[in-house]
Amino acid sequence: MRAKLVAGNWKMSGSLASNQELLAALVPALAPLARASYAVCVPFPYLAQAQHALRGSNVALGAQDVCQFDGGAYTGGVSAAMLADFGCRYVIVGHSERRNVFGETDDVVALKFAQATQHRLTPILCVGETLAERESGVTEAVVARQLDAVVKRSGLPALAQCVIAYEPVWAIGTGKTATPQQAQEVHAHIRARVAASDRRLADELAILYGGSVKAANAAQLFAMPDVDGGLIGGASLAADQFIAICRAAQAARETVRA
Ligand code: PGA
Repeated sequence: MRAKLVAGNWKMSGSLASNQELLAALVPALAPLARASYAVCVPFPYLAQAQHALRGSNVALGAQDVCQFDGGAYTGGVSAAMLADFGCRYVIVGHSERRNVFGETDDVVALKFAQATQHRLTPILCVGETLAERESGVTEAVVARQLDAVVKRSGLPALAQCVIAYEPVWAIGTGKTATPQQAQEVHAHIRARVAASDRRLADELAILYGGSVKAANAAQLFAMPDVDGGLIGGASLAADQFIAICRAAQAARETVRA
């Protein structure tokens, strides 16, 4: 069985005051929702605040990026060991904003993935195509290339320690959500690609969908057999929206392994 996971990606949003309010609303509301898993990926400066606010709750802590190096003279870098030190369970790697705005290559993303797993963090590996790539019919090739870069560096078994997030770039922050069928198609492709080498690993692999998920569309997306939850940007900043999305995950049927 693959339980659903809902992870919030706050991106570069928040303040001590607004985080406090948001986390204080989430913790009691999500406490009774035991059938799925939940996380919030917060900006680095707020890790300590969130760690404290989430202590003893069923909401895990995550970061949004990690340095590709282990430690040392890398000004501005934040290492996987530091994230582990603050109780992070998850770290997003290869988000399209990191790839496209900050110029991270597939190789850099693969190094970050390796750092995360070496320090027992669960990487949430983002893959996804741009609008131009979708329109030219190369969606599956792009996603395969992004996945293969990680497998080449860390080996296929390392995927057992990660979560994949399929995030079509054209759907992120645009209000344009992939239809449940569009999401399912790519999720099934990712799973089949892994299954070609290791069926059991593929069956256990959690594949989240991200890109304009909101309370109004979460249930339909989560009903798809290969959609194991969501990576939520904008809607993770509004307590009522995020809680509603988590309730949709709780209510969704678990996918029974084939
Ligand atoms: P969005 O972002 O939900 O605001 O589209 C998703 C993401 O970038 O992870």
